[in-house]
Amino acid sequence: MIRRQPLIVAHASEIAQPGDYVAKDLMGTPVIVVRDEQGKAKVHINVCRHRGAALLQESEGSGLSRFRCPYHGWCYQLDGLLTNVPDQARSFPNLDKADRPLTSLPCAEHHGFIWAIPDPLGEAGAIPDVPAFLGPSLDNEFAAYGFEEYTYYRRESWEGAFNWKSGVEQFLENYHFAVLHRDSTNWLFIHNLALCDRFERHFRGVAPKRSIRDLANQPREHWSLRPNATIIYTIFPVATFFVEKSHFSLLQIFPIGPERSRIEITHVAGQDQLSKRPFWEANIDLFKAAVNEDLETCETMQAGFRSRANDYLMFGRNEIGLDQYRRCIEDALDTEIQQA
Ligand code: FES
Ligand SMILES: [Fe+2]
Repeated sequence: MIRRQPLIVAHASEIAQPGDYVAKDLMGTPVIVVRDEQGKAKVHINVCRHRGAALLQESEGSGLSRFRCPYHGWCYQLDGLLTNVPDQARSFPNLDKADRPLTSLPCAEHHGFIWAIPDPLGEAGAIPDVPAFLGPSLDNEFAAYGFEEYTYYRRESWEGAFNWKSGVEQFLENYHFAVLHRDSTNWLFIHNLALCDRFERHFRGVAPKRSIRDLANQPREHWSLRPNATIIYTIFPVATFFVEKSHFSLLQIFPIGPERSRIEITHVAGQDQLSKRPFWEANIDLFKAAVNEDLETCETMQAGFRSRANDYLMFGRNEIGLDQYRRCIEDALDTEIQQA
């Protein structure tokens, strides 16, 4: 089901110029996200069409003019076309190079992100329709942020021993803030008070900061949400955006197995903010401390699920996002079954 959804593979600023690239894992598929000679974003599977060696190690960089396989030296243009096969006349006399371009994933650039559907065998030409995927309300709301004006700052990735769904659910309620995050981010937020709205299969949560109370003494026209709340978007099925005053962080939790997930966090900031390095590092450390508290709890919960102590779990009225998220997953699985 996840492999048929548009997933975010990079921020557009990571591949701002032709030849900029990111080689990474996407749901167990090695991919290269690259800006090609024509300025188009491409997502190739990082696998040579000769005998399948990886073209690049996991890395990010710029100034690439072609891909050259480190095994026998087959070369590809950035758009994926095979251009050179060493000793072709003698060794591959019948090969038409046009028949062996790199295998690519359908991808699109929208709201400053590169989105790809990680299913190379999916419907041919099924370019992700991101506006339809987000729905008109959320698509308009994202357009208003102007995420494409932001600049990539840093990414980190690690693995955890929990099911991906409980990872995503950690960010759909703030009932746990004063307890689990008492030593990290609790001082910033109002405990157990949040808005949660659903858009198609996606969600917007607003976690108000304590500073929002000061607005009561100010004229309404000076009220501003972003400095006084974290706005959290759950983008179905694996992504969570944390929109802050002048930056945002994207957390994605990809399944590796039923009880194992890969966590990836990408930090993106307003261009005028990037020089404030100590500020960012402190901010990222605080964010990471809270995320670690959330995901370490997922590991204890996973052991709890295995114990069968609970034949069902309880969601409070303040945890409605979790209930709705589960419904979205069931709905998506039903669609899969009907199409099978
Ligand atoms: S596997 Fe790439 S050139 Fe042989
Ligand atoms: Fe949390």
